[in-house]
Amino acid sequence: MLQKGCIALLFAAGFTILVSMYLGIRQPTHCRLPPQRQQPYTDPTKLPLLLLWFWPENLKFDPRECQTEFGINECSVTDDRSVYENAEGVLIYHRAIRSDLANLPPRERPPFQKWIWFNVDPPTKTQNLTNLDNLFNLTMSYRKDADITVRVRVLSHKNPEEFVLPVKDKLVCWLSDEEDLGVARDYYKELQKHIKINVFGKAFGKPIKPDIYYSTIASCKFHLSFENSIHPDYITKTLHDPLVSGTIPVVLGPPRKNYEDFIPRDCFIHVNDFPDAKALAESLSHLDSDNSTYQNYFAWRKYLYVRPRQLKSEKQFLHDICLACQHLGRKRVYRRIHDVYKWFYGRPKWLP
Ligand SMILES: *[C@@H]1O[C@H](CO)[C@@H](O)[C@H](O)[C@H]1NC(C)=O
Ligand SMILES: *[C@@H]1O[C@H](CO)[C@@H](O)[C@H](O)[C@H]1NC(C)=O
Repeated sequence: MLQKGCIALLFAAGFTILVSMYLGIRQPTHCRLPPQRQQPYTDPTKLPLLLLWFWPENLKFDPRECQTEFGINECSVTDDRSVYENAEGVLIYHRAIRSDLANLPPRERPPFQKWIWFNVDPPTKTQNLTNLDNLFNLTMSYRKDADITVRVRVLSHKNPEEFVLPVKDKLVCWLSDEEDLGVARDYYKELQKHIKINVFGKAFGKPIKPDIYYSTIASCKFHLSFENSIHPDYITKTLHDPLVSGTIPVVLGPPRKNYEDFIPRDCFIHVNDFPDAKALAESLSHLDSDNSTYQNYFAWRKYLYVRPRQLKSEKQFLHDICLACQHLGRKRVYRRIHDVYKWFYGRPKWLP
């Protein structure tokens, strides 16, 4: 009798240990950066490994924040090149190749491995390197037809939200940190003749600290969300910052239709809605005195919102890399990109 009890107890203990071992292995661990991983991954039950071949712009962050900030825990992120043979994904930041293909990982790669082409620049700012054919498996860019689209998004929520319009003491502002205003400069110069434009940011020698960044934009009725070059889907933070702040963006970039792929049609003003800068200026002045029409531009905020982006520059690639991690963990599709440039430089019909 005693013996039987002992055996049962042993079984129970063994079972408990097995279950806890199983749970221990299967419990999702967050994205982590093994500081100096000695042992390469060999255990197939472990999360897929994403190797950052370069840190984009050398901006390092703690990948555990994928879990804490975005709840993404579908892979492990590492920058340790010695685990190359075991990495399911290798993220290659285009700018860091610096026209030297010797900076790329070894061409011999394990059959399961996917190389991710990561580029945040528009085609005119993207260096055309030869011999990038048949290297990559996934594209990661702001384009909506990329395998991994990385851009600020408008999100929906179910419960109506009370929106309080911020107090405004300026009519038109432009906050830009761009080094080069590009194609936006001419329109700005013309518009300036017809309406006062308050400028801020590095582009104008007036840098704005992160703690007053959104409130500066919020204090203006309109914000010039002008892109410095015009490409399909190339709609950047300059649009999203006023949407976060509670300010109407006046956009210059791809056609209105392209904007409407990403944001509601009645939340912004497109420069092409007007024959010229003078007509735009008149319309903005009119809206200044017509408060109810002005308020209508914020009707979308009841059910939609835009999450503020990471203003700390050292974390600017955090969300993008977490999305790559998520993709790697969820999608196991075979993919091969023959000519990454053909896709990226392809000119749409509406461009002159
Ligand atoms: C990139 O460079 C190659 C070789 O110099 C050239 O053949 C190709 O047309 C260029 N592609 C683009 C999109 O400019
Ligand atoms: C990745 O792309 C390369 C080259 O285009 C191809 O040889 C390889 O089979 C692809 N691998 C996967 C897992 O998609």
